Amino acid sequence: MRTITQQVFGGTEVLELVDIATPEPGAGEVRVAVAAIGVNPLDVAVREGWYPMIGEPPFTLGWDVAGRVDAVGAGVTSLAVGDRVFGMPALPGAGNTYAEQVVVRADELVRTPDDLDDQRAAALGLVAYTAHRAIVEIADLQPGQRVLVQAAGGGVGHIAVQLAKALGAEVVATASTGKVDVVRGLGADEVIDYTRHDFTEVLADLDLVIDPFGGESVERSLAVVRDGGTVASLLDVRDEDVATAAERGITLDRIRIVPRTEHLQAMLDHVMAGRINVHVSATFPLDRAGDAHDHLGTGVVGKIVLLP
Ligand SMILES: NC(=O)c1ccc[n+]([C@@H]2O[C@H](COP(=O)([O-])OP(=O)(O)OC[C@H]3O[C@@H](n4cnc5c(N)ncnc54)[C@H](OP(=O)(O)O)[C@@H]3O)[C@@H](O)[C@H]2O)c1
Repeated sequence: MRTITQQVFGGTEVLELVDIATPEPGAGEVRVAVAAIGVNPLDVAVREGWYPMIGEPPFTLGWDVAGRVDAVGAGVTSLAVGDRVFGMPALPGAGNTYAEQVVVRADELVRTPDDLDDQRAAALGLVAYTAHRAIVEIADLQPGQRVLVQAAGGGVGHIAVQLAKALGAEVVATASTGKVDVVRGLGADEVIDYTRHDFTEVLADLDLVIDPFGGESVERSLAVVRDGGTVASLLDVRDEDVATAAERGITLDRIRIVPRTEHLQAMLDHVMAGRINVHVSATFPLDRAGDAHDHLGTGVVGKIVLLP
């Protein structure tokens, strides 16, 4: 089967398409014939080596995946050959999903409903889990509360806006000029064009801020959240911001993903009920994974998906 591998950290040129032996599922595992692979900034960070989550190369990138079970290992009773499934296996270990086939623990997969296509299923996992973690698990967002979703046109942001609205919150969002209308269409009550306005000058006393940038950005998020509120940071936070949050009784959580299928299932329920739409704005063939990486950060709305 074909898979993408890399021997060293680096730019997109380090990604190689190679043929390897088809992997066989062990006890408790299934093999998935991959139909679609969700691309995330995490893939780029691991490829480049600035976030060496799975250690040194050689390795195969990729976590989000959707496809069909084509082999079942010993002891697996929950899934059978032919079942459509999706998930984000092995995090924080190697997911190996940039491939035509991947072996996954059966208990890390969720069945894909008939009405959900593979591209959207593959796009859903990581961003849906992240939004769920911030909004439901950490902040326990209640109807009427006010949330700021930064980078609302991106993968996490576009799901977070819709989830917060589905829970009855008032949603303020930031996006660049070209995405303002899209984000309003997702249900945001107010969209601030971050290229023209500084949200710290117009917002205050929010219950929750979702901060995708971490670092110095968290200081700005803390400036607009109420005492006792929550800031969910998707990247690392500085010690001084942890101290400020503690002084003000703010929950400052650096989100780390640990996949759990019940949370994927909860988000899937929102999708199937029409409360959340997963937006796939571009697809690339697997052998152009590098181009897909380059396409991230070029004004993409929602998600990019690889097709083997
Ligand atoms: N901790 C975790 O478990 C976890 C999970 C998922 C993601 N993450 C991290 O969270 C970040 C976002 O992930 P993603 O999947 O949503 O990425 P993405 O799909 O690439 O979206 C990033 C978005 O950031 C927007 N943006 C850039 N500069 C901005 C600014 N100054 N203000 C507001 N928006 C801005 C971009 O929109 P424009 O085109 O409008 O500029 C883009 O839509 C990444 O760093 C990722 O690694 C962490």
